[in-house]
Amino acid sequence: MISRRRLLLTAAAIPLGLTACTSGEPGPSTNGPGTGTGTRALPIPPLAPSRVDADGVRRFTLTAQAGSHEIRPGTHTPTWGYNGSILGPTLRARRGETVEIAITNTLPEATSVHWHGMHVPAADDGGPHQMIAPAATWTPRWHIDQPAATLWYHPHPHGSTEKHVYRGLAGLFYLDDDNGDHLNLPSRYGIDDLPLVIQDRRFSPDGRLDETSSSSYGLLGDTLIVNGAVPGHHDLPARRARLRLLNGSSGRLLDIGLSEDREFTLIATDGGLLPAPVTRTRLLLSPGERAEILVDLDPGHIATLRAYPVTTRTGIDRPERFGFDDTFDILTLRATTIAPVAPIAPALPGVLAALTPLAPDLPVTRTFDLKWFMINGAKMDMTRIDLTVPTGATEVWAVTNREDWPHNFHVHDTQFQIRAIDGTPPPPHLAGWKDTVYTEPARTYELAMRFLGPADPAHPFMYHCHLLHHEDQGMMGQFLILDPGQAPAFTPPPMGDMPMGAGGSGTHGGH
Ligand code: C2O
Ligand code: CU
Ligand code: CU
Repeated sequence: MISRRRLLLTAAAIPLGLTACTSGEPGPSTNGPGTGTGTRALPIPPLAPSRVDADGVRRFTLTAQAGSHEIRPGTHTPTWGYNGSILGPTLRARRGETVEIAITNTLPEATSVHWHGMHVPAADDGGPHQMIAPAATWTPRWHIDQPAATLWYHPHPHGSTEKHVYRGLAGLFYLDDDNGDHLNLPSRYGIDDLPLVIQDRRFSPDGRLDETSSSSYGLLGDTLIVNGAVPGHHDLPARRARLRLLNGSSGRLLDIGLSEDREFTLIATDGGLLPAPVTRTRLLLSPGERAEILVDLDPGHIATLRAYPVTTRTGIDRPERFGFDDTFDILTLRATTIAPVAPIAPALPGVLAALTPLAPDLPVTRTFDLKWFMINGAKMDMTRIDLTVPTGATEVWAVTNREDWPHNFHVHDTQFQIRAIDGTPPPPHLAGWKDTVYTEPARTYELAMRFLGPADPAHPFMYHCHLLHHEDQGMMGQFLILDPGQAPAFTPPPMGDMPMGAGGSGTHGGH
């Protein structure tokens, strides 16, 4: 018996009959051939193979390597990637599992791999103190205990994170759980559940990635790439697509929407499912943020996902400098007309995930002012612990962007709830778990979070602006999680290990 799944997979592989006139009006794109025919199919990062050993641990292998990738058709661009020429495979694991990832660095310089959004032991976080020297292997391991979410991984070498990510090092990390499985969401990877790593790049005339155009606010590309290639199309063998969006750019904000202002449904943000679905026509993602959206299309219809000019710009001085006026195509989605006609997508439940306010009445624990590539007037110092947090503590961090440049704020190890923006509860699309928040100038974001530990007096976590140039310039700080009475046992790296941009040389053998 041929299952329905099988039929749909078959349908996905053959060209689709399309009514070309539907909703894909030629866009005002500054990049790529626009909608419809003539574009390449969206490349899908492979799912990383893994094995579960007798000890119950799910093991993955990653190799950071140099290569060459056809980002633009006909042009081969030197790139870096994990297990391939650009980006990395999608890692996938389930709440309750223990994962171990062996990462070998075959690059000519030290790098690190950070699990963005993941609750991990501090020594396994992959921040700037867990450098992997050339030819070395680092093997972090941790137990996954957090809700289903779309997380990601990327390098974090102090002073050169922007360069390493720009060259191609980044990948997605899907977490699954029972609640997510029971919601009837599109979940066929690469078919109706689409990973979209969205980044901007600039090319020099010889086809190389242009790294010289770094302005004082960071690399801003004139070409948008999705999953490592210029935007293409995806033929959808269903009426509903689930798009997992990552803004993997260094410094570009993406104000995401659909052609004809078609509505979509936001179901998840950085740390997992929202309490309730939210209907939107635009969604702002700053660098590092993720979102999951559902797009419903009738058979034969076409819709183009785009990055539109950024409308959230109050207080930004000369926003065009930061690319706020640009428009780019991201993906053209084409819903199949091939029989059997895809069934109408089921209605979404009104509640997606339970969410209890973490700290409704707690006074603000700490304040963070973002200004001039500094946090609270200090630049990142690899040898300085900026703050310590008690194991198990719930805290409220109040973060304010004190200038007229775009910034955001990311905290390692935990997910937070935005309790208030300027004293007011957040809008519904910011009401779920987040690990990165865009901070509009002169507004104060109160972030409630819990630090579960375990304590580690020797290994700090980071908090920082995720505009990678800002982070590299020092807009970052370090915190330790400590048990009561425990003293920091942090050994600052030797001076030779922290040149800006040169990477460190320390290697951890792992577990
Ligand atoms: Cu996505 Cu500290 O990083
Ligand atoms: Cu992170
Ligand atoms: Cu910043």
